Amino acid sequence: MCGIVGYVGSGSALEIVVAGLRRLEYRGYDSAGVALVADGDLWMRKRAGKIDVLEEALSAESPPDSSTGIGHTRWATHGGPTDSNAHPHISADGKVAIIHNGIIENFAELREELTEAGVHLTSETDSEVAAHLVALTLPDTGDDLAEAMRQVSRRLSGAFTLVAVDARRPDRIVGARRNSPLVVGIGDGEAFLASDVAAFIAHTRDAIELGQDQVVELTAGGVEVTDFYGEPVDTKPFTVDWDASAAEKGGYDLFMLKEIAEQPRAVADTMRGRIDRSGQLHLDDSRINDNELREIDKVVVIACGTAYHAGLVAKYAIEHWTRIPVEVELASEFRYRDPIVGRSTLVIAISQSGETMDTLMALRYAREQGARTLAICNTLGSTIPRESDAVLYTYAGPEIAVASTKAFLTQIVAAYLVGLYLAQVRGNMFGDEVRRILDQLADMPSKVDLVLDTVEDVRAIARELAEARAVLFIGRHVGFPVALEGALKLKELAYMHAEGFAAGELKHGPIALLEEGLPVVVVVPSPSSSAMLHDKIVSNIQEVRARGARTIVVAEEGDESVNSVADHIIRVPATPTLMQPLVATVPLQVFSCEMATVRGHDVDQPRNLAKSVTVE
Ligand code: G6P
Repeated sequence: MCGIVGYVGSGSALEIVVAGLRRLEYRGYDSAGVALVADGDLWMRKRAGKIDVLEEALSAESPPDSSTGIGHTRWATHGGPTDSNAHPHISADGKVAIIHNGIIENFAELREELTEAGVHLTSETDSEVAAHLVALTLPDTGDDLAEAMRQVSRRLSGAFTLVAVDARRPDRIVGARRNSPLVVGIGDGEAFLASDVAAFIAHTRDAIELGQDQVVELTAGGVEVTDFYGEPVDTKPFTVDWDASAAEKGGYDLFMLKEIAEQPRAVADTMRGRIDRSGQLHLDDSRINDNELREIDKVVVIACGTAYHAGLVAKYAIEHWTRIPVEVELASEFRYRDPIVGRSTLVIAISQSGETMDTLMALRYAREQGARTLAICNTLGSTIPRESDAVLYTYAGPEIAVASTKAFLTQIVAAYLVGLYLAQVRGNMFGDEVRRILDQLADMPSKVDLVLDTVEDVRAIARELAEARAVLFIGRHVGFPVALEGALKLKELAYMHAEGFAAGELKHGPIALLEEGLPVVVVVPSPSSSAMLHDKIVSNIQEVRARGARTIVVAEEGDESVNSVADHIIRVPATPTLMQPLVATVPLQVFSCEMATVRGHDVDQPRNLAKSVTVE
């Protein structure tokens, strides 16, 4: 939610900041702005709309040379997406510029205090108060921007990443972090601040993740990190293990197409190095020992959006392999329903970004209740894995398109590895049984590759159905969450009414939605792996068809039983039932992507959405 970039060094701050914003546009894109420090003054431009609009405005001007600047791309919370609500916000004396990500929960009282003190606020945002407060605090600190930021941060509640520059101190930028992401990039004679390393990866791979309630002061020569009371803190430097090209489109028209195509590699990388010579599985970072895992009597998966669907898939596998009950809950619901969680509960938080506020808050709640926590995450050093007892990283690489694709497949793989690990340490499965499943998983990258060979056929079907009013998706067992994910993708990208249902539930209500020509996508399980499920769903297809619906059937190679009931068939390679989501989801991603393209929508940046949602 909102992307933040800051730069200090000897390069062109404007170029570096705008390029950084482009990389962060996935975080929000309803307005953007930059502020530069030059000749003892601030130069600021901001515009409603995407970064293109800002860039167009910038090209018509002569910005000053500056090597200190900040930039922001916004996802609106308080105040609509207008020029004046866009960031940066400037203090009344014109000397301090601030950008903000998050929500300042006590902004109303701070606004009132400022108004009473005679400050005229020019926007409807919660963020603007921070600019005025920092400027008003500066004189009491001997014009020490970092100290002013610390004092102001102590007064704010809620979630915030704040980055500030002061026109009188062109050699530094200051950032503060509570509950929102902020990373520092260390270059040679230059330093960066950003919501995500993608913003500065073209310049440096050396980074520091800021901890909770910390303030950082950056100059070209170095970085100083303290807590909100000025005490120096130890930092955790890390090296980013991907480079700038991983965050580029690499010849594809869309990030989403590139990321769909990367899935075989992403799945393979997520499995790589997890199994040692003796066949034992290993997690990345674990402070939960095997004895503790043996005591687990319940697993609760918490996640949002696509990650939640990955959790739903994993439930089938983990329960089957470990015989431990698994609950899967939307993170935003979990925390507020007084869930039964304790020392013997393993809470698994699944999150691509590692920053989703709903998931983070649910995780913290689970920790407070004494639960053991494990994160499945794609972003090294992000908050959710940092606050978990154990971590399994998905090595999907940067996912830029707002609609999640490769992260979903890798989340399933990672959750399966956790399930197998539990089964191994608890003795639910023999070593050869675990290895048999690992072999099945190891086959999946090449099977996903085969699916990618058929995308043109899927696209043709999507084009034919692009005028449909709505699309339903049905599936059974692990095919049910796949149906939910297929429907979510279509809503997100094509802005169409789409619903996913458990196929068996259709007759209990949703069947009333069926009408002549309505497309219904059916995920059919393997006839050899689960004959009973397969036959039941073939009957469901017949029921749907009998009511005039148009059926698009995702079925495995060689399953001829669907030929007579399908209007369109999408073939996927034969897989054991639990592996099928890894192949069956891929055509549904392509289907939505093509539908959205035909309907003229921005696939990588769908309206109203953001990739990393750091507000509750
Ligand atoms: C947002 C994105 C979704 C994503 C969800 C969870 O809503 O638009 O694509 O699935 O957040 O994100 P996470 O980073 O926690 O996996």
